[in-house]
Amino acid sequence: MQTPGHVLTTARLCLRPVVDADAAAIVAAIHDFEVLRWLSRAPYPYGLSDAVDFIAKNRGNAGEVWMIHDAGGLVGCIGRRREFGYWLRRAAWGQGYATEASRAVLAHHFAAPDAPGLLSGYHAGNTRSARVLSKLGFTPCADRRITPLSTGQEVVIKGMWLDQEDYVP
Ligand SMILES: CC(C)(COP(=O)(O)OP(=O)(O)OC[C@H]1O[C@@H](n2cnc3c(N)ncnc32)[C@H](O)[C@@H]1OP(=O)(O)O)[C@@H](O)C(=O)NCCC(=O)NCCS
Repeated sequence: MQTPGHVLTTARLCLRPVVDADAAAIVAAIHDFEVLRWLSRAPYPYGLSDAVDFIAKNRGNAGEVWMIHDAGGLVGCIGRRREFGYWLRRAAWGQGYATEASRAVLAHHFAAPDAPGLLSGYHAGNTRSARVLSKLGFTPCADRRITPLSTGQEVVIKGMWLDQEDYVP
């Protein structure tokens, strides 16, 4: 369901644009190697200045990047800017949140006439994210190699692609 101000709501979650006041909550949620090791452009360790940089780059991206909140506060982030991607604090894993937040963003994306397909991908070995993307209808496309900031070790990114007709709501 879409509400004004680029806010998306689901049964359990509220997806809101990034605001300056999110910095400390972002650090508290993301500063965990088990989260950061699977992301491409976030450093480890991750401090307040990293969150401030992230907010500066994304406060103008309402409608493309959202912070995910549950009843207890900020639990993660999701976006479709360069690629479709997401992360959640570890305490929020395993409850279907990534799937629920993704469906809100994908329904919003594909509601636009002539919406283009979406590129995503996961680090080889990230079976949770592979499962989320497959459930949503993403299918494999070209792989690539990158060196994540968090580990400095080159990894294979398994490319995934979603066309509107393949989306599983
Ligand atoms: C990937 C991530 C967002 C998943 O969040 P989540 O809310 O736990 O995901 P969901 O609960 O919606 O779905 C997870 C699915 O993976 C399955 N799963 C859980 N652990 C798994 C494992 N070790 N291996 C394979 N599948 C697993 C779950 O059973 C579920 O599938 P199901 O609905 O068919 O049962 C979260 O783990 C995370 O933030 N990881 C770190 C950052 C990251 O990897 N981001 C993605 C970058 S591509």
